[in-house]
Formats: sequence, structure tokens, C-alpha cells
Amino acid sequence: MMFPEYRARRLRRTQAIRDLVRETSLSLNDLIYPLFIVEGKGIKEEIKSMPDVYRFSIDKVLEEIKSAVDLGIKAVLLFGVPDKKDEVGTSAFVKEGIIQRAVKAIKDKFPELVVITDVCLCEYTSHGHCGIVKKGQGSVEVDNDETLEIIAKVAVSQAKAGADIVAPSGMMDGMVSAIREALDEAGYHHTAIMSYSVKYCSSFYGPFRDAAESAPKFGDRRSYQMDPGNAREAMREATLDVQEGADILMVKPAMPYLDIIRMLKDNFYHPIAAYQVSGEYSMIKAAAQLGYLDEERILMESLIGIKRAGADLIITYFAKKVAEILQKR
Ligand code: PBG
Repeated sequence: MMFPEYRARRLRRTQAIRDLVRETSLSLNDLIYPLFIVEGKGIKEEIKSMPDVYRFSIDKVLEEIKSAVDLGIKAVLLFGVPDKKDEVGTSAFVKEGIIQRAVKAIKDKFPELVVITDVCLCEYTSHGHCGIVKKGQGSVEVDNDETLEIIAKVAVSQAKAGADIVAPSGMMDGMVSAIREALDEAGYHHTAIMSYSVKYCSSFYGPFRDAAESAPKFGDRRSYQMDPGNAREAMREATLDVQEGADILMVKPAMPYLDIIRMLKDNFYHPIAAYQVSGEYSMIKAAAQLGYLDEERILMESLIGIKRAGADLIITYFAKKVAEILQKR
């Protein structure tokens, strides 16, 4: 009985040995950096509930991306915060929309960078819901099929602007097949789909809704996002997305749902993405600012945990910071 314990201890003796037997590691290839883009010029405004995260105008986001690319970041996920909102989110799919112009500017300057765009209406609708709202009922009802037509247009307009991957996040039924069909019909066979397959109705999105000005004006998203108590339902959602042609499956948020990440990893052969969302970011930031936790260590530990659970890709507001830490090592 003594012998195996002794051996186990020796494997932890030096850093080099620990490195040799390490099962999970984090690399620059795993990171996706989310960015918020607003209208205007020369704008870089900090988001109050997300220290060190900013809303950028297009000219400024190019500078930010330059610094990210210099650090070795290979992918960004773009969210648009438009000036104009209406009932159906028109500014999400027009050619001169904020995201369409941003993607074009970014791709012109950084052709190698993987540009991923959020396909959702909540930032673009006056009511802040992710789809077309049917009024009158007690709970908020989104008209699923009407919404599909619009988000298909959004995805095509983003592909046209140069997006490599579109990421539908609204949890509408049939959104992946609607987008795949529309992309193929328009000739964008190579544009991939990263689906927010398993998106929980989570309070961890709070700070994001500040950032993207996308908080619902009435009701909540319970009728279209998942109940945090459900795991088997996540399998159903992911299965449908796979059948509909999703290329990457995402779980969101990440840390409270590590079991779901693992479940998807074990049951599908698709790359699995995890989104470390705004609330997860802000909690770490706040605790660090209060001196309760060591920011660098906590963020690296949280990300390695997400990776170990099975994520191949991690969307994180810490992306640049992680890249800096990885470069120091
Ligand atoms: C919806 C969307 C949300 C997030 C990403 N896409 C918010 C929501 O569903 O309310 C949240 C991301 C985060 O919290 O960092 N377009």
C-alpha cells in the first residue's frame, strides 16, 4: 500500500514532471475574444459592471483587435449595439448595419482573423427580446417562425460582410436549419454555424445586458431559454442542432454548467464551445478588486476547469489577459 502512494508523490515533485503528466492545458488556439461595437467615432467606453471591458466604435475596435492579434488571439465574437431599434430588429440585417460595417472593416485589415458574429435580435429590438414578440398573452411569446425568417436574413447579411462563422444565440426552434438553408441558397457554403445549442435562462447574463443594452423591457426569456435544472433537455437541444447542420455546439454559461459541457463532449463528435459569460467575468473581477481573490490564478483555474470539462473553445472576456499570462510562461 505504501508503494503506489510514494510513486504518485514523485510525479508531482518538479515543475518539469508536472508538465509532462499534465492532462489539460490552455492555449491561444482555444480562445475567442468577445467585443461590443457601437456607432460613432473615437469611442471606447468602459462598461460599468464589467471592469476593463469596453464598447468600441469601429475605428477603435480595430486598434483593440490589433493589440489582441499581437498577443496571439485568433478569433473574435462580435456584438452590435445599434443606434436604431424597432419592433423587428431591422438594423440587424441591413447592409449598412453596425455589425456588417464592422465585419468588413475588420476583415479588410485582419484577413486571417476568425470573425464570428452573434445572430440575435435582442440588441436590435425596441422591446429587447430575441425575436418577434406576440402581444397579449400572460407570458412573453416569441413568434418562432416569423423570427426565423429574420435571423436567416441577419446571418446572410453577416456572411456577405465577411463573417467566417455565424453564431445564432436566440434559442429559436429550427434556427440552425433556417440559417443553413439561407446561407447555402445565397452561396455561402463555407460559412460555418456555431450554435448556442444549450443556453440556460441565467442571471449570469446581467452585466452583458448592460453592455449590449439588451435587457428585455418586459417579461423574461424563460419561454425560449433553458431551465437551469435540466440536463437531459440539453441533449435534446444539441441533437436537434446537430441534425440541422450546426458545426460547433455551445454551452452557456460555462462554470455553473460544467456537467453539461462534459455530457455534450461525450455524446457528440462536434467541437464544443463554452461561453464564460459576463456574470462569471464580473464576479472574478469584483472579488479581485476587493482583494478577496487573486485574479490571475482564479481566471486561469476557471478556464482550465472549463477546458477539462470538455470545451474545445472558450469564449471569454479575459482572452487578452490569458494571452498575456500564457506569453509570460
Ligand atoms: C443574446 C446573448 C446574450 C449573451 C450573449 N448573447 C444575452 C441574453 O441571452 O440575454 C450573454 C453573454 C454574456 O452574458 O456575456 N444575444
